[in-house]
Amino acid sequence: NGSRRYARVAASNRVDNWKMDGTGKYPTIKDFRYNETVEFRRCGMQPLVAYSGSSSHFEKGNPMHLESGFLRSRGSGQVSFMVAHNFGLSSLEEGEIQGKEIKLKSQSIGRMTGAKDPSVTEIERVFTLTDENTLVQKLSMKTSTTTVMTEHLVATYTRE
Ligand code: HEM
Repeated sequence: NGSRRYARVAASNRVDNWKMDGTGKYPTIKDFRYNETVEFRRCGMQPLVAYSGSSSHFEKGNPMHLESGFLRSRGSGQVSFMVAHNFGLSSLEEGEIQGKEIKLKSQSIGRMTGAKDPSVTEIERVFTLTDENTLVQKLSMKTSTTTVMTEHLVATYTRE
């Protein structure tokens, strides 16, 4: 049945888009306000979701932090999140799905030659689906100068 097959293919390639307007902070910087759109794109029958996050300046609209990668299931609720960041960083974050939450910790971080200091030494993030149309991402990090795990972003996204 063609239309049933079409529905299956459409579901396996579903795209979820989210957007937010929020603030970020860190002890060493000024608090800032930004917009961000996030996309999760399922990749057919592969145990994989392609991810991209694009933030922009709240007033001026210029691009700020951009990240793109893959969230891959390793089975039994274990996931790997492989991300490239525009400021010269790559992060491999791993963790697990617990109910409506994905908890991730960096396993390794790559840094391009000449990337701005301070360097990021660890990342922790949690994605929580608080209801069908609301997604929260909390991101904390350690850097070469802030060596205690400290919050950078708490973003509340609404489904587009
Ligand atoms: C600053 C990392 C996501 C906006 C920083 C710093 C680091 C960093 C290491 C420098 C902190 C310091 O000087 O002590 C990260 C990582 C991210 C991330 C690892 C994601 C995994 C974002 C996002 C935005 C953002 C989504 C949204 C706009 C900023 C801003 C600053 C900053 C505005 C201050 C820049 C400055 O004063 O030069 N971030 N960031 N970051 N981040 Fe992020």
